[in-house]
Amino acid sequence: MKRWSIVLAAALAVAGCKSNESTTSIMNNQPLKEVAGRTNFGASHALMTTPQPCVMIATWDKDHTPDVMMAAWAGQYDHNQIVVSLSKHKTTANLELTGAFTVSFADVRTVAESDYFGLVSGDKVPDKVARAGFTVTPSPNVDAPIINEYPLTLECKVVSWADGILVGEVVNQSADASILTDGKVDLAKLQPIVFDASGVCYRALGEVVGGAWNAGKKFTAE
Ligand SMILES: Cc1cc2nc3c(=O)[nH]c(=O)nc-3n(C[C@H](O)[C@H](O)[C@H](O)COP(=O)(O)O)c2cc1C
Repeated sequence: MKRWSIVLAAALAVAGCKSNESTTSIMNNQPLKEVAGRTNFGASHALMTTPQPCVMIATWDKDHTPDVMMAAWAGQYDHNQIVVSLSKHKTTANLELTGAFTVSFADVRTVAESDYFGLVSGDKVPDKVARAGFTVTPSPNVDAPIINEYPLTLECKVVSWADGILVGEVVNQSADASILTDGKVDLAKLQPIVFDASGVCYRALGEVVGGAWNAGKKFTAE
């Protein structure tokens, strides 16, 4: 079992979806020392980094049929690279063939379709993209489809794929005009969803609550 699915299993157990499995009480065979005054979940509790993005990885299969899957164990690796923890899926077989994939972002308008893409494998339902009513355009830069219904997409080349860890180089990022304000991607318009591993649900992003590299300046004043 790959690391992302181990964490998901723990999340489901904690959420009461599975029998009452322990969330670990040992570390290197030593009893876990609890942090006083807090609830201590141990090392295998699902809520490691939170919230998690809901990225949608799209690939072509050997017949040039588009496939797309949900991945929440994903993040930025370098300024132009992303990383995803993946089990074996149709997606991984596809990207082994093509060396490419695209990444889009599930949003409040596409919750059901995006969850469906995480529930069902293209191995069992080869036309899952079309079944959800979604359409694709071939990326002009990499050998992978762009899902038209997701308004923000990264076109990626596989840098490495080993031991369940995919690293991709982003060669282009494109956005639909509907999510732009003054030529910049506007998250208030994109309305991306995040995966809540504690509640095992999706959440919408909230309001702007402060400026980055700015809100803390009140502590830097002489
Ligand atoms: C919320 C959610 C998050 C997921 N995150 C991941 C992940 O990070 N890595 C992974 O390998 N699978 C993840 N999955 C499972 C895949 O999306 C799922 O197995 C999918 O059906 C694979 O599709 P494919 O076989 O067509 O490639 C996730 C599923 C859901 C619903």
